[in-house]
This record gives sequence, C-alpha cells and structure tokens, in this order.
Amino acid sequence: NSKGIIFDLDGVIVDTAKFHYLAWRKMANDLGFDITLEQNEQLKGVSRVHSLQQILSWGNKTVSETEFERLMTSKNEDYLSRIAHMDEADLLPGVKKVLDYLTENNIPFALGSASKNARPILKGLGIEERFTAIVDGNDVTKAKPDPEVFLIAAEELGLPPKDCIVFEDSVAGVEAANIAGMLSIGIGDKDILKEADYNFADFTQIDIDFIEKILRK
Ligand code: BG6
Ligand code: MG
Repeated sequence: NSKGIIFDLDGVIVDTAKFHYLAWRKMANDLGFDITLEQNEQLKGVSRVHSLQQILSWGNKTVSETEFERLMTSKNEDYLSRIAHMDEADLLPGVKKVLDYLTENNIPFALGSASKNARPILKGLGIEERFTAIVDGNDVTKAKPDPEVFLIAAEELGLPPKDCIVFEDSVAGVEAANIAGMLSIGIGDKDILKEADYNFADFTQIDIDFIEKILRK
C-alpha cells in the first residue's frame, strides 16, 4: 500500500512566510494601517487576491479595480525583491533530511501551494526536479481551505487522497488537507494549527522514524 507526501511551500519548505508578511505589512502601512501577527496567521496559505481583499477589509478600504491590480503587482515586486538570490541554504532546517529520505526510498512527493511564485522558488532552492508533481497557484481556481490544490496533487501522484500526507503551516491549508481526507501535519504553533492530525514546531522535530510510521499507517 503505497503513500505519497504533499508539501506546502511557504513556511514549510522555505522561510518565505515572513517575507509575505513584511511585504503585505509595508503595503498596509503605506495605506495608513497595520496588520498584526495574529491577522497574518489568517493570511497564510491564502492566495494573493484573497489576501489583498482580506487586508483591505481590515483597513476599511475600498479601492478601484485598477488600484487593486496595482497593489497586487507592487506587493509581489516587493516580495520578490526580498527573496531574491535563494539557494539550497534557504531550505528550512530539517527539510533536506526528509526530502533526501523520500528520494532515496522512491516515495513520491508533490508540491501543493497557493503561490504563483512556486516554480522559480523551487528552482532557486535546487529541488524542483525532485518533485513528482508541482501544483501551485497557477493551477487552481479555488483557494485553500478548498481542497482543490491537494486533490489535483494526489491525482498527479496517482494516489487516492487517503494515501496522501500533507505538511502545512497554515490554518487554511490544514483545513484543506482535512477536507480532502488526507493526513494533516501542522508545522508551527500547535495552538494555532489545532485541527492538524500531528503537530511539530518545525522539521528539526521530525525524525525519519516518524516519517516511516506515517508511511506505514
Ligand atoms: C501562500 C502563502 O503559500 O501563497 C501566502 O502562504 C501567499 O502568504 C500565497 O499570499 C500566494 O503567494 P504568491 O507568491 O502567489 O503571492
Ligand atoms: Mg504555507
């Protein structure tokens, strides 16, 4: 009975989550308000469009369609300038060990991310070729917590959802994995990711015994 793994990207494989926050926060500050860390938790895993809609509603702002587009573009440019020059050293601690184990044991894994920047980021990290499938913000019509991104990833892995294991750092992503009928593993604060089947602060807390256990389950 073979299983596969689906990784979220931002905040799971690479520490880009903080740069999304900094870029959104700068944009909000320019518009005259602030975003708290608590609010930011609700933005994790959420698409660019939905993030901007949410942030504008927190700031009680309504903008024209043209201004909305301009804000999306400038946030993305700011974000990309913050993550320029990525290499393998930017993989979050403990991630490489798990990817190496999966590769060596021919266990298929996919990416399931809301980001439209996922491919260039994976390329920069030097791990793009190792994924059996990459499903990102360019491939979906429905954002997390809708399970679409993970269901497409499962299909591309050739596995039923129940045989997929999802690593996620966002509330929306854990919910999406649960709705998809997959095993959900929360990476981050367990009090925030309380709906996850398992919780770890980060990948340094995950050993290969645990990976083997969930692959057998
Ligand atoms: C998710 C991040 O992975 O991707 C969100 O958690 C981000 O913070 C979303 O807004 C969309 O990313 P991008 O790179 O397409 O703006
Ligand atoms: Mg994430």
